[in-house]
Amino acid sequence: MGPLGRRLKQLQQYIRFSQAAREWISSQKSDKGIRPDLLSRLCLNWRNSWSATEEFLLEMAKIAAIHRGPILECGTGLSTLVLGFISESTGNPIYSLEQDPSWFERVRKDLLHHHLRRNRVILAKLKKFTDYEWYDWTQGPPLPRFAFVVCDGPPGISWGGRYGLLPQMRDRLMPGCIILLDDAGREGEREILGRWKREYGITYELIAGSNPFAKIILP
Ligand SMILES: C[S@@+](CC[C@H](N)C(=O)[O-])C[C@H]1O[C@@H](n2cnc3c(N)ncnc32)[C@H](O)[C@@H]1O
Repeated sequence: MGPLGRRLKQLQQYIRFSQAAREWISSQKSDKGIRPDLLSRLCLNWRNSWSATEEFLLEMAKIAAIHRGPILECGTGLSTLVLGFISESTGNPIYSLEQDPSWFERVRKDLLHHHLRRNRVILAKLKKFTDYEWYDWTQGPPLPRFAFVVCDGPPGISWGGRYGLLPQMRDRLMPGCIILLDDAGREGEREILGRWKREYGITYELIAGSNPFAKIILP
């Protein structure tokens, strides 16, 4: 496919994505249920291969729809928008941490484009600690306490991967907090799950699929 063909395909995907997004937002006003059909269309037309799988996003959407209270997200993208669509009916505020300035801009523009009012995306550089790095969110708005966390960042190649969530944010997470950890089939994430279990007493369930993920409960 030539450059013009590629450009046309991108435009077509953008239009299809926006249509599905509009349908989801307007359906949320009347029927607060999850729309797997619309989620499939969003996934198909979201132009980024780093996105979470449809299975992960569906589980996330189901929890977000029944959850009450602020949601923390680590690593932004399609998941940020889907959380935003759902919060149009639940009213839950969403705090998302993102370390990459250009990706932050892309997500911020998408949120504006869809008039999503409950999302706060915080650009937070990764800061090094002894054996991991984590988002330095201290320059951003004060964070509330969370009962639901979507952990899909920082990227697996970062120092210590996603281990920093519990040492850095444990005090901000309520007892019984649910954490969805993506990429749980990777060796690094398996080690993190083992460490969190030993050090923080978490319990978890691995959810199999094209890219397994873990549903974790904090004691
Ligand atoms: C796994 S991605 C997060 C995906 C997001 N939860 C979603 O469902 O779309 C984790 C991080 O990768 C980075 N990232 C996302 N897309 C990227 C791309 N196309 N190239 C490089 N980095 C990317 C961003 O910094 C993001 O926070």
